Formats: sequence, C-alpha cells, structure tokens
Amino acid sequence: MSSHGAPIPMTSHPCGPLSGNADVPGDKSISHRSLILGALSVGETKIVGLLEGQDVLDTAKAMRAFGAEVTDHGGGNWTVNGVGVGGFAEPDQVIDCGNSGTGVRLIMGAMATSPISATFTGDASLNGRPMARVTDPLALFGTQAHGRAGGRLPMTLVGAADPMPVEYTVPVPSAQVKSAVLLAGLNAPGKTVVIEAEATRDHTERMLAGFGADITVEQTDAGRVITLTGQPELKPQKIDVPRDPSSAAFPVCAALIVPGSDVLVPGIGLNPTRAGLYATLRDMGADLTYENERIEGGEPVADLRARFSPDLKGIEVPPDRAASMIDEYPVLSVVAAFAQGQTVMRGVKELRVKESDRIDAMAVGLRANGVTVDEGPDWWTVTGLGHGNVPGGATAASQLDHRIAMSFLILGMAAQNPVRVDDGGPIATSFPIFEPLMSDLGAQLVRDAQ
Ligand code: S3P
Repeated sequence: MSSHGAPIPMTSHPCGPLSGNADVPGDKSISHRSLILGALSVGETKIVGLLEGQDVLDTAKAMRAFGAEVTDHGGGNWTVNGVGVGGFAEPDQVIDCGNSGTGVRLIMGAMATSPISATFTGDASLNGRPMARVTDPLALFGTQAHGRAGGRLPMTLVGAADPMPVEYTVPVPSAQVKSAVLLAGLNAPGKTVVIEAEATRDHTERMLAGFGADITVEQTDAGRVITLTGQPELKPQKIDVPRDPSSAAFPVCAALIVPGSDVLVPGIGLNPTRAGLYATLRDMGADLTYENERIEGGEPVADLRARFSPDLKGIEVPPDRAASMIDEYPVLSVVAAFAQGQTVMRGVKELRVKESDRIDAMAVGLRANGVTVDEGPDWWTVTGLGHGNVPGGATAASQLDHRIAMSFLILGMAAQNPVRVDDGGPIATSFPIFEPLMSDLGAQLVRDAQ
C-alpha cells in the first residue's frame, strides 16, 4: 500500500524477546542508483536483491518513461537495458516519484543535460520539499526549471541542449544534491567537479566508477573533491544490492530495548558513510557485534548481531557523524528514551526537510507517549527514562513518513502500553516486509479493524 492510499492505522503492543534472523530488504540508495545508472548504460544491467519498495518502483517506472527497458524477473532480480548517456527520450507522461526525494532529485540530474523536457510530481510530502537545492546547480549546466513557489513540485525541467561542465560546492550536506550534479555532469563535455565539505553517502561515486566512468575523489582542506569526466560510455554491470543499514536499524534498535532479545541481521551494508548509527549505539552501551565482515559488490558488508542491552546511557552524538546516520535519528531517539540520561543531537537541521520535519514529528509523538523532548532549529534532546519506564499509550502521526511510522511501532514494543500510529501505509516505500519480518521476530503488530 503506498502513501497515496487510505490510511492504515496500526498498533504495536509490548512484546516478549525478539529473536531470529532479520533478512531486511535491499539498500534503497543503491537500488535507485542501480536502475538509473543501468538506464544510462549501453546494454543489459542485472540487479540482484533490488528493494521492491514503492520509492524504487516509482524510479523503475520513471526509467521506462525515459526509454529504458526495465524488467522484473521476480524475487528481487531485475534487468535494465539502458539507452546510454545522453540517450534519454522525452517522457510522454508526468513523472510521479511518489514519496521519494532520492528518486526525483537523482532523475532530475540524470535528464538535466539532455535536450528534453520532463514534468515531475509526487505525493503531498514530496511536493512540499525543497527542490531549489537541486535546480540551482542544474541551472549552471544550462537547465531550466519551472516549478511552484519556493521551488516546489510539480515542476518542469527543460534539459540543457548544449550543457557546460560545472564546478559546484554543495552548500548543505546532501548526497542527493551531490548525486544530481554528478549525474548531470555525465552528459556535459569536460570535467564536472563537485566539492562537499562534509562526506555524505558515496554510493554514486562508487557505482559510477563501477560502471566505467572516469571519476576521482580527493580529500582536501575544502573537503572531498569529486572530479568526473563527462560523456563516458557506461558499461552495464551485475549488481548485488546489499541489505539496507537504514532498514536494519529498526530490528536492531528493537532488539536493544526489548528484554531478552537476540537478533542477527545477515549481509548488512557497512559502508562507513552509512554506519554512524551503529557507532553511536555502541557509544551508548549497545551490545552489537559484527561477524563475518566481507566485501560484496564493491561495498563492505557483515552480519550484525544485536542483543538486549540493559545499561544504555544517553550521550551527546558527535555532530560530525550526522551525515552518516541522517535517516536513523528517529529510531535513535526511541532508543534514547530507554537509556539513562539525556541524548543530545546537534547539527541536524536537515532532519527538518525530510519526508516530514522529523524533529517535530518525533518530538510530538514522543511527548504524547510520556518522553521529554527539547528542540531548536538544528538540535534536539531526549531525556531517557530507562528500561521499563517509558509509558507509551498514545497515537503518533506518521506524517507520510515511513521512518516515523516504524520508529513509533518500535517504541510500542518496549513501552508499558501499546503505541499506535495513525498510518502505517508509508512503511511500504522503503520496507514493504516490515510487518511480517518484525512479527516473525516476536513483535505484536496489529492493524486496526477497517
Ligand atoms: C539519500 C540521501 C539522503 C537520505 C535519503 C537517501 C540518497 O538525503 O536522507 O534517504 O540515496 O542519496 P539527502 O541527500 O537529502 O541528505
């Protein structure tokens, strides 16, 4: 059920120990990029373990609209027959990216330097999110954007017929902005340079190199300097998508707070630009162990074991870790509620422009469930009550945000009283098997009678 459908209210009841293997789905970031880079290659890309969440399915549909042949062979096996760099056709329909900021921003970049136009839209969440952060740098290539006030979708992009390569310093820590500029740079002659002061997830750089682009990354005083030579012929790849560390965060965090739990997440992606949550949880005293560390498809992976952790303590999360755990703050705030003492999260302004304002969404819902939260424009704190002391008992609003919905359902597993979310529908955007997976581990999730 996508976030376009009728709300699906759900309740999470306090439960006994969680145990077993959590086979979480494929990485969302890598899944989007596999489809887009496959579409920009000449020949057939094979993808194993694609995340079949609504966000990624919307990107698959978009790639078909731009002329690629995208085929679902079942069981997470997909192929993409690409049209090559600069080969996108003009879509004859509006591109609906649903709930996905990653989808729309990366696709805008990928079409921005081809002589075609495309109109983009999304759901109420996506149509409220800022797009100028992408269309501003795309304008430097010669791309025009005509959207609603404040740079919002729906928006039409007119691709640059004669693109110029650009040098761009990303003003906010955003892998989506960085990636949009790099994808646009693919069809500009010469060298496109992107500079980021803070390292953000680097899947685009790794995958572009894998697809045969000439791309270098240099660490300088100004930050990471990424240089891409335009107009390569990208070579189709076989991609094994690692399991998503951002989805794994939910069963892992649940195991830490539900007494007696012991959960193993096999084959989780361990890319250092994504692993901040796990370092933070260890700093808080979490019992986490990595087993069987290895490299798969150019990405580091391991099996991660999480056990109930009776002595969690609140900490100040290092702000320089924010980019590497940006999607995990909602569920971290749930763990923080069960720790002793205060957890302080600074340098997280970006949380206010995600699928929802995630500081506000978590603060309102945690307070309703008996947890004290303070907040400012780019920081928030959660005062931990310790295990067994979180009241729960309230309904939280998901605000069309999958990670907010899942975070409150995790809260309910270890609270004194059930926790309800007004709409579990958005969970399908990134983690369509959340309900059966968590139930198999021992969670008590119940959909309200319709
Ligand atoms: C993503 C980048 C991040 C993250 C999102 C996925 C990506 O967004 O929040 O879920 O795949 O590039 P920002 O680039 O806005 O930080």
